[in-house]
Amino acid sequence: MGNIDLLLKNEFENLPLDFWDFKESTTRDLTHGLHYYPATMVYPISQNILKIVNKHVDIKTLMDPFMGSGTVLVEGMLDNVSQIYGTDLNPLAVLMSKVKTTILSEEQLSIIEEFKKKLKSIEEKSNQVADDFDNYIKNDLNLDITAKTGWGDSADKYINDYFKNKNRKFNYQSFSNLGFWFTPRVIILLQTIKNQIKQVTDLNAQNFTLLAFSETVRIVSNTRNGEFKLFRMKAEKVASFMPNVFAEFYKILDRNVAKMQDFIKACSQTKSKVTISFDDTRKLETVPDNSVDLVITSPPYGDSRTTVAYGQFSRLSLQWLDLDYTTQQEVSNIDKNLLGGKPYTHKEQWSFLQSQTLVATLEKIAEKDMFRADDVFSFYVDLDKCLYSITKKMTKNSYQFWVVGNRTVKLEKLLTDKIIEEMSVKYGLKHLFSFNRKIINKVMPSVNSPTNEVGARVKTMTAETVVVLKKE
Ligand SMILES: C[S@@+](CC[C@H](N)C(=O)[O-])C[C@H]1O[C@@H](n2cnc3c(N)ncnc32)[C@H](O)[C@@H]1O
Repeated sequence: MGNIDLLLKNEFENLPLDFWDFKESTTRDLTHGLHYYPATMVYPISQNILKIVNKHVDIKTLMDPFMGSGTVLVEGMLDNVSQIYGTDLNPLAVLMSKVKTTILSEEQLSIIEEFKKKLKSIEEKSNQVADDFDNYIKNDLNLDITAKTGWGDSADKYINDYFKNKNRKFNYQSFSNLGFWFTPRVIILLQTIKNQIKQVTDLNAQNFTLLAFSETVRIVSNTRNGEFKLFRMKAEKVASFMPNVFAEFYKILDRNVAKMQDFIKACSQTKSKVTISFDDTRKLETVPDNSVDLVITSPPYGDSRTTVAYGQFSRLSLQWLDLDYTTQQEVSNIDKNLLGGKPYTHKEQWSFLQSQTLVATLEKIAEKDMFRADDVFSFYVDLDKCLYSITKKMTKNSYQFWVVGNRTVKLEKLLTDKIIEEMSVKYGLKHLFSFNRKIINKVMPSVNSPTNEVGARVKTMTAETVVVLKKE
């Protein structure tokens, strides 16, 4: 181990045992708090890694290849790292990270203020239109707005008929089951706000308001509060659900403007260049080879279907946003495209990832359920591809900090930290050390039913491990 490696190892290993727990930390300061996202990394993790590594090595380029909501990138900017790369295959993560890392000018903040004034000036009239339409659907047509068919699957037909009969044009974003997820009033009001946002010509100001809109979509939809997966509220709750769409939007927009103002101050010395791409980490085509000094990242814990469903969390927002770098079809398939989303069925190749720990665990899972074992394997095949492509982007003597959670499948613990350590050897990576942290603040399901038996709940994750690798 070289001198710097030893210094780093000593420094990290001599920290107090609870150093990484961050019990009291908020996760929502500055632009970190602009939008919710599942399983975010609490920012003091990357903040402290950057602080410590920077004492010993001059970090010019930082990358988070699973950037999610952009936590690491924001911390990179606060640390004034010259070049920062972030990639993700969830288009909502791309928008979020872009907005969180774009320092707005005074002029752009004024544009947002003007936009808000304009919106306020049409609020009363828009509420009237929404109420009239609501009345038409519920009373004139006598439709059950909680039904899966009728309003649930044909809302677009009713909206078109209504405005055609009134000789009015109403541009709106339709997608399948629109009415199942949104009440008549809410659709009209959301679309009114979105149409105004589209008239904001400054792209950064427009993206900033779009992100506040995205958070609003989630809150005013018929989804159950506090869940990342797409479950609808009970019918009786949908029937009486009357969110104040404009008020919710202003609340989020004002909160976000205040957070952006704090961020602008905190970044007064920042000269970072941030490059954000919608890219697959198995390929990483948007990042130049041999260019990155430091990676700080937290990959998914497993496939979206059985762990955190990033695609489901983002779907309604993305269907409304209709971003130009993704299609409605891609939006419906996000979870299938993320790591482990596609099944892989070649047992004889379990050993080709060169991780004994993985093979041993897969064999135990296979004794109980062969299908689940293959499922798990497909995730690690993908993770291995990421290790390869990430390492290709790294400079000689660069460091990778992987923040991973060890989950349980069929009551067998998958030691992802150990598996990464073993898989990385074939790519010329050296494992320097690992350290643990207790999960205290992380917003994610702490229990699920890995045996798929109704009512069986097993704790899946209480700690994370940070694995430190070096490209030599
Ligand atoms: C644990 S989250 C990262 C959270 C992030 N550290 C934060 O603080 O918000 C993992 C991310 O990996 C992304 N992801 C999964 N598979 C991917 C792939 N093949 N390419 C790029 N990103 C992927 C997911 O969309 C998700 O945003």
